[in-house]
Amino acid sequence: MIDVESSDWLPETIDPTVPSAARVYDYQLGGVHNFAVDRALGDQARVVWPDIALVAQANRAFLQRAVRFLSAAGVDQFLDIGSGIPTAGNVHEIALAANPAAHIVYADIDPVAVECSRALLADHPAVAVVQADFNRIDALLAHPDVTRLIDFTRPVAVLLVALLHVIGDEDHPQSSLARLRGKLPTGSYVALSHLSDEGPAERVRGIEELSQAMPTPIRLRSRDRIASYLDGFDLLEPGLVHAPEWRPDHPDDIDDDPERYCEFAAVARLA
Ligand SMILES: C[S@@+](CC[C@H](N)C(=O)[O-])C[C@H]1O[C@@H](n2cnc3c(N)ncnc32)[C@H](O)[C@@H]1O
Repeated sequence: MIDVESSDWLPETIDPTVPSAARVYDYQLGGVHNFAVDRALGDQARVVWPDIALVAQANRAFLQRAVRFLSAAGVDQFLDIGSGIPTAGNVHEIALAANPAAHIVYADIDPVAVECSRALLADHPAVAVVQADFNRIDALLAHPDVTRLIDFTRPVAVLLVALLHVIGDEDHPQSSLARLRGKLPTGSYVALSHLSDEGPAERVRGIEELSQAMPTPIRLRSRDRIASYLDGFDLLEPGLVHAPEWRPDHPDDIDDDPERYCEFAAVARLA
């Protein structure tokens, strides 16, 4: 664990007075790698959207089920973009438990996420952490640690979990996704989750307004728009559904009111 509030540790690139998506999400998950400014924003978000911590947990549980599913499908290379701050049940732990020969690359723009991931992984030979930007997807895919561990002639699972809702339209996510798709061989997969614009308009507006304090504000989008991000891929069963409904470990795990999660999730395959 890194003491993120210690000024001895803080890289110069981090401004502890500006909240970040990675650290606010860490706070919602009960993590400790966040600053006072992140906790304050996280608390304001809970007032506007009381279920937000529950939604973060459901998102994390989707990520873990998706990695188990993909490992069982035979995938042994994972590229996790917008990987966030490590917490319980990280991608490499699940993938390596399923297949000790798996390779995993974590990529995030947030220096705290990158430092915390590196501290956890030390020098694990099959896992790398890169500071890289989804909006510069060609550079990300060409990063030496990506090309060292990921063989793009064999199927890859790309994880875009809770990432695209912090990518603005002005950054043209469709174009980055098309470039990513063009790099992947047949048989590759994408796992995606995205907060939606369902629910009361004042809540949607409230979350979007609060998140303006972060360098990467949240964009809540419609289900159709989220589905369009998977163009060119074949959706696997059960399709694009509320996160707890995606292949639950047990039928009782589905909430009586899955729509309260206001987040869609899917896994899709490149045919
Ligand atoms: C809500 S967290 C999701 C973390 C993890 N994927 C999960 O679902 O548990 C979103 C992450 O995306 C990262 N992020 C935001 N914009 C990014 C970009 N342009 N490129 C790479 N990562 C980005 C943030 O720093 C943050 O760590």
